[in-house]
Amino acid sequence: MKLFDVYPLNNITIEKANGSYVWDDKGTRYLDMYGGHAVISIGHTHPHWVKRIEEQLNKIAFYSNSVIIPLQQQLAEKLAAVSGKTDYQLFLCNSGAEANENALKLASFHTGRKKIVAFKKSFHGRTSLAVAATDNPSIVAPVNETDNIIFLPFNDVNALHECFVEEGNNIAAVITEGIQGVGGINVASEIFLQTIRSLCNQYGAVYVADSVQCGYGRTGKFFAHDYAGVDADIYSMAKGMGNGFPIGGILIAPHIQPKHGMLGTTFGGNHLACAAALAVLEVIESEKLMTQTAENGTYLIEQLKAIPELQNVRGRGLMIGFDVPEAIKELKKVLLQEFKVFTGEAKPNVIRLLPSLALERIQIDEFLKSLKQAITVLNHNSV
Ligand SMILES: Cc1ncc(COP(=O)(O)O)c(C=O)c1O
Repeated sequence: MKLFDVYPLNNITIEKANGSYVWDDKGTRYLDMYGGHAVISIGHTHPHWVKRIEEQLNKIAFYSNSVIIPLQQQLAEKLAAVSGKTDYQLFLCNSGAEANENALKLASFHTGRKKIVAFKKSFHGRTSLAVAATDNPSIVAPVNETDNIIFLPFNDVNALHECFVEEGNNIAAVITEGIQGVGGINVASEIFLQTIRSLCNQYGAVYVADSVQCGYGRTGKFFAHDYAGVDADIYSMAKGMGNGFPIGGILIAPHIQPKHGMLGTTFGGNHLACAAALAVLEVIESEKLMTQTAENGTYLIEQLKAIPELQNVRGRGLMIGFDVPEAIKELKKVLLQEFKVFTGEAKPNVIRLLPSLALERIQIDEFLKSLKQAITVLNHNSV
């Protein structure tokens, strides 16, 4: 049987990983500045995470949500402590798209309304409502097309005001990333997020903070949206939550009331996933990874800004992007093939850095050295 060919692949087979490094089947080591697409939060194969999962696997991996699963309550308590959203409620699922799907559905149940405000260059996942709220028509199937999504320009406060004046009483939710990831590392301004908060308050709409990529400590705060100093009504989470073990979830503000049967999932919140997610939070806390991320991010961004070839260096913590000019457009490829460094990209010309939060200073310097050498090689080739 053939695999359904939907991914453009690098011709590399990864067999082993540790911390911020991965090894291919020939034993070549790569520095992982991509974090397997922002998923590796505490470092590959962290011993505490491995131990937690192994121990849980020997007890019970799964039982359905028809019984009490104390690990879910423990995870909720740990999340409250680490995120600071102490009075929120937790619903667990399996992926980022599913988290956003549930967030938007819940907002619609809660308000009894249908319209959702989303933004240009957004990415919220590939399921029905999540993909409809994603600004990329090429991945929206005809069956996902809906008149219920209103796309506005990102960071445009006036457009938000105008939209609410016209449609405010029909709007169930406003959904935004705190830093757009797939869209190319675009940081939401504080005033933009504050305006979303106050308009949602005024019109009774739900503010959904998509934290699937920019959350879980990646920016130095637990949620990137926290930089604006206002709370969202729902935070969606996935990627870094399980350090590679599939798990997602939403944090729900106390004024949104649950009802039996309103949301549900077979696998969400299973024993094994909760053990993995607890291990991640325990390590984030014990190794002070959010503080380390903030400090390392500031250092890395400063160093990148000093490299003249890189344009528009931006981001927060370890969620960083820069534009690659035409003359060195092969930078990502050269970094991977010649310097054995994984990075991410955003079309058409952005390199994204999404490493593990446990990335060490020495590894940042190793990356900077490879980056400068790769630029030199490309400059040399272009003359
Ligand atoms: C901001 C954002 N939301 C949602 C998703 C979808 O997550 P998943 O691929 O786990 O469904 C992604 C994935 O890249 C994302 O970056």
